[in-house]
Amino acid sequence: MMDYPQFVLPKIIELPSEGVVVCTSPSNIALVKYWGKRPVQLPENASISFTLDLCRTTTSLRYKKRDKTAVDFDFELLFEGKPKSDFKPKIQSFFERVEKYVPFLKQYTFTIETSNTFPHSSGIASSASGMSALAYCIMQLEKKINSEITDAACLQKASFLARLGSGSACRSIEGPITVWGKHQEIRGSSDAFAIKFPYNIHHNFENYQDTILLIDKGEKQVSSTVGHDLMHGHPFSQKRFEQATTNITKLKEILNSGDLDAFIEVVESEALTLHAMMMTSLPYFILMKPNTLLVINKVWQYRKETGAKLCFTLDAGANVHLLYPNSEKDQVLDFIKSELVAYCQNGQYISDKIGLGAKKA
Ligand code: DP6
Repeated sequence: MMDYPQFVLPKIIELPSEGVVVCTSPSNIALVKYWGKRPVQLPENASISFTLDLCRTTTSLRYKKRDKTAVDFDFELLFEGKPKSDFKPKIQSFFERVEKYVPFLKQYTFTIETSNTFPHSSGIASSASGMSALAYCIMQLEKKINSEITDAACLQKASFLARLGSGSACRSIEGPITVWGKHQEIRGSSDAFAIKFPYNIHHNFENYQDTILLIDKGEKQVSSTVGHDLMHGHPFSQKRFEQATTNITKLKEILNSGDLDAFIEVVESEALTLHAMMMTSLPYFILMKPNTLLVINKVWQYRKETGAKLCFTLDAGANVHLLYPNSEKDQVLDFIKSELVAYCQNGQYISDKIGLGAKKA
């Protein structure tokens, strides 16, 4: 039986012989974290994120029809202008997973060229922006084959395909806030794709800022796939999945009311819980660095002294995302420059903000 028949392409009438599509898609930062999945790429709990604006991947997908359909995919991969063979296995397995929904893939030779706006190996997750950009490109090609597809269906399928590349990637197709994973209280939510947060968002969250402090650019000690796997048989996993579900309910209310103190509490607790899960798995990991903790303490001190609505969140790494309202931008940036840059590797940080998702470049 075919899973998700709504995403299977109806009969292909004619394929374009060659061309190129160029798309760009951002990274995203989870407020309630996705950590734990079951096959194939289905989340154990719903997650919600801010789509970012400036941290993006731009991907061009050049396609040329092959003489006959072959048994293998045929693609070449260039990263920042140079061949990049270590990315190929991830794309190969992505193609294998999505093929039944986009059956034209083997009929083309592809050249995929990709580049990021953020520094390479900065520890910023490039899988979310990279996989969403590629999925969005594939949907631009599908549009040429299946002109009847509506824009809404195209976005939903792009998110569906992106999820099969990397779970968090499905949350980058749209913005400013998306939810991935079935949740009782989020209308239209699904495990199979992310949706735009379907309720009113308080103006406090307009242009919300995310300054990413690059604390440590070292290689990840644990890949996210391994990390997700460690939630199987984890002593606290069931409670954690329940907690995430409750936190989504809380955030739904907070995003509507604009209560920033409540926002801070949920977001910081989620970040620390994510790391607590890694610290209490077997094997266990500490992905924070001393400077991560020093920054967190500085943020708490600054908040106490000034009453600012600045908070932090973390991904599966040492870097710190600082989230704050647009109205506090100048003061917080001064604080970052005077007090926090010293904890960043080579003084590096990236000022980003909430954004709208993937688009044609
Ligand atoms: C900690 O989406 O990178 O960033 O589905 O295995 O590709 P895969 O995992 P990935 O996991 C991201 C985990 C996280 C939290 C989040 O973004 O929700």
